Amino acid sequence: MELRPKLSIDRLISELNALAQISEADPPVVTRVLFSEADLRARAYVKGLCREAKLEVHEDPIGNIFARWQGTEPGLAPVATGSHIDAIPNAGLYDGCVGVLGGLEAIRVLQQLAFKPRRSIELVIFTAEEPTRFGIGCLGSRMMAGALPPEHAIALRDTEDRGLEELRSNAGFRGSLESVALARGRFHQFVELHIEQGPLLEQEGIDLGLVTHIAAPASMRILIEGEGGHAGGRLMPGRRDALAAAAVLVLALEAAAKFTGAIDTVGTVGVCEVFPGAVNSIPSRVRLETDIRDIDASRRDAVIEKLKTACEEVAQRRGVSIKTEMVNADPPATCDPAILDAMEQAAEAAGKTYKRMVSRAYHDSLFMARIAPIAMLFIPCRGGVSHRPDEYASPEWIGSGVHVLSRTLATLSS
Ligand code: GLV
Ligand code: MN
Ligand code: MN
Repeated sequence: MELRPKLSIDRLISELNALAQISEADPPVVTRVLFSEADLRARAYVKGLCREAKLEVHEDPIGNIFARWQGTEPGLAPVATGSHIDAIPNAGLYDGCVGVLGGLEAIRVLQQLAFKPRRSIELVIFTAEEPTRFGIGCLGSRMMAGALPPEHAIALRDTEDRGLEELRSNAGFRGSLESVALARGRFHQFVELHIEQGPLLEQEGIDLGLVTHIAAPASMRILIEGEGGHAGGRLMPGRRDALAAAAVLVLALEAAAKFTGAIDTVGTVGVCEVFPGAVNSIPSRVRLETDIRDIDASRRDAVIEKLKTACEEVAQRRGVSIKTEMVNADPPATCDPAILDAMEQAAEAAGKTYKRMVSRAYHDSLFMARIAPIAMLFIPCRGGVSHRPDEYASPEWIGSGVHVLSRTLATLSS
């Protein structure tokens, strides 16, 4: 390809920094939970940048944003890129945002080169990739792919018992939830640029990861009900301490995940809510939220089964009641060989080093894979750190990703 993409890396970095200032927490901490005031301001900021780049912007009833650069054959399905701008509590500024603002920069670079895409190129900013609000990840792409039917979506509740209908209408989003799901064929192909969120690229000194598979995520909620009481007066024999029971389950999950012997199996308890949460009161109720993933869905499911068995045993042995509820158990995704080849050629043409790898984190691409051929392009992040305020990707790393993304989009849209 004759294209010589010339990025404005300073502009992109300053936009990433400006977006990071829009946070529910004091900088450098980024927190932007779905439909919070910060989430709405961040959306407005990004939509403004898209309009400045002369993209046609529209939103669906749950706030997924589509910003289109019209191709010379507008009747053809567009090639899409994008990611998310919501951020978990205490996050950094690169997760998701690199794929959104980097995707925009890739489009602007092609515009400056007077490139004329045959297929339109669409930047998609997905609603709530992070599970913070409703406990379920990829809300926007999940609904877009038809993997979460509207009746299940409206039954979701946040910790303050608010649902999607109330929150989206307060945020100004109206329209039928039925219209969020898009048919296969709506997008020709989808490519997502993202930080690796792991250490391999940096350790190996490689510019880019070409993602071949995305691991299958699952989440199970565990509700334990024991018996509370006075921490001094109540003697140890016969106690039915819900937190002590939870502790056994935390270790049971760790053991089950390690037992597979596969480096790709991971199990985490990321939420432990204790009631009443007073130092001199025996915990009577505990809610655990678990996150279990693997490239191999059946191996992951075996870990879930072991955890369920541990729940039954612990309930029996400790006289507590334990209820489990699957929040999600999604299949893994395989990336499209033709997009991988296009990315590889783009990396060669740009003089960047690359390797094929799997994504252990989930992404909106996991759900886009249900309605379009997809692939992901990873850039390194320092120390593999992510979901923390000290998450960092250098301007050079970001620049390499955007450069190769722009070449890839040019190829796919031609
Ligand atoms: C996405 O944020 C994930 O938890 O993999
Ligand atoms: Mn994330
Ligand atoms: Mn992300």
